[in-house]
Amino acid sequence: MPKLCIALDTDYDKAVELINTLKNKPIVFKIGYKLFISHHRKITDLIKQKGFELFLDLKLHDIPNTVKNGVLSAKDLGADYLTVHITSGKDALKEAVKVAENIKLLGVTLLTSLEEDHLKEWGLCISKEDYILNLSSLAINCGIDGLVCSGKELPLLKSKFKFFAVVPGVRLEGEPLDDQKRVVRIEEAIKNGADMIVMGRSILNVKDPIKKVEEILGLLSSHP
Ligand code: C5P
Repeated sequence: MPKLCIALDTDYDKAVELINTLKNKPIVFKIGYKLFISHHRKITDLIKQKGFELFLDLKLHDIPNTVKNGVLSAKDLGADYLTVHITSGKDALKEAVKVAENIKLLGVTLLTSLEEDHLKEWGLCISKEDYILNLSSLAINCGIDGLVCSGKELPLLKSKFKFFAVVPGVRLEGEPLDDQKRVVRIEEAIKNGADMIVMGRSILNVKDPIKKVEEILGLLSSHP
């Protein structure tokens, strides 16, 4: 069964409440800019103390030495997963892999909020698929463990590479897409081979997030 990762893109009090209420459930908590920049160790330590896996979504994007230092610091925090932009380049990726040890490094290809038009804006005359394939191949050749990708590109990527597939941009039927563009329904993400599904606002923006989490876990467990 794919893992469920909750993107804690919310305020501190709400995050703490969710972490405390969901203890003992098979969940990975993802910390991004919002909580990490303001609360840093206070929130990462709580996640680890409660026995959850910690996903640091800091999307490192810098020169090789700086990326390596970021991975080392993430290791100090006990991170289980850490994102790195593949466009940091192969030297940065190799430095990250050298020091990662138990952290699963996840390469970011094209953000799920971006489309082919954005590539054109960057001056890149390449299809979205080729762009994603090139970056994925680069990351995997450098020893990166997993890829963050849209459920839409997953069948193509799974047919070419062996990797841990992390899929954001997932919604249940009828839910708003918000700023996401390359979105799939949860059933499609599972069918296409997601190893971890990342969901934020579908859980955070409802009256009863716990009920929603139980519904999602039920869906995941019915697709072994
Ligand atoms: O609220 P929603 O479910 O759209 O949140 C998706 C989460 O996944 C956000 O935390 C976002 O930063 C992250 N993410 C993404 N697309 C990527 C990489 C990460 O949406 N390519």
